[in-house]
Amino acid sequence: MTPLRAALDDAAARLRAAGVDSPRVDAELLLAHCLGVARSRLSTMDGPVPPEFERAVERRANREPLQHIMGSAPFRYLDLTVGPGVFVPRPETELLVDAVLPLRDGAVVIDLCAGSGALALAIAQESGARVYAVERSDAALDWLRRNAAGTTVTVVDGDVADPELLPELRGRVDVVVSNPPYVPAGAAVDPEVRADPDEAVFAGPDGLAVIPAVIARAAALLHAGGVLVVEHDDTHAEAVPALLAASGHWRDVLDHRDLAGRPRYVTAVRAGSDPKSGVG
Ligand SMILES: C[S@@+](CC[C@H](N)C(=O)[O-])C[C@H]1O[C@@H](n2cnc3c(N)ncnc32)[C@H](O)[C@@H]1O
Repeated sequence: MTPLRAALDDAAARLRAAGVDSPRVDAELLLAHCLGVARSRLSTMDGPVPPEFERAVERRANREPLQHIMGSAPFRYLDLTVGPGVFVPRPETELLVDAVLPLRDGAVVIDLCAGSGALALAIAQESGARVYAVERSDAALDWLRRNAAGTTVTVVDGDVADPELLPELRGRVDVVVSNPPYVPAGAAVDPEVRADPDEAVFAGPDGLAVIPAVIARAAALLHAGGVLVVEHDDTHAEAVPALLAASGHWRDVLDHRDLAGRPRYVTAVRAGSDPKSGVG
């Protein structure tokens, strides 16, 4: 057995014992990261184990998120820079991008609660839309600005609870997309989630402290026929559609499941006359 193979086997065993969900994959990704190669190249590689691998495995065994150790998180066709202070984008959120594409060139899109910019940047990259990314946390804004540098995405330092948010775009927006905080406070979460900022994850005792503000801002910003897409907790398949129904501004409210079959996001169309939807 080569030194690299032995180190991988040992690392995978340590990560498994620490309760990591995908120990072998994580060990391989960390080794590839330390070697500066793609994971797919590991099977053909030989040579010494890089000294930084030991520390990386130790950090992961302490349940530090893989993405913090590697310094980046994959999302759709992007590699986003992440670390302490910003929410690590999750694979299930990628479905929200599919829900809004295709978009006509020049469509106006707002990502509320943008974090690292995952949704805003993916939508901008995969369409010709003009995308605004709204975020309130200073720490998250630092990461968002780094990720958005050199792109067409406009970063907005703003609060979804502010009725004066983006007044110049009122009634002119084609799509509002949001993955807001939605986990009920006190819910049991994996150790990795504790590395995300609390304000990115938890939203009051029922997890619904932020979504009503997202719905209200979307109602003000979208034109008739514009589309709202909001991710929610898997316990909110009825509560979030009920909030939309209660606001009286929406039609075609539909809840959707993720790839694991759990209720995950809602779509709704801004009711009213004169629709000019940007969704193709
Ligand atoms: C679950 S994270 C989602 C980040 C990103 N959209 C994603 O999917 O990876 C929620 C984000 O909402 C931000 N946030 C929480 N409350 C907010 C508010 N009132 N206004 C603006 N952003 C807020 C948090 O700072 C955090 O970055």
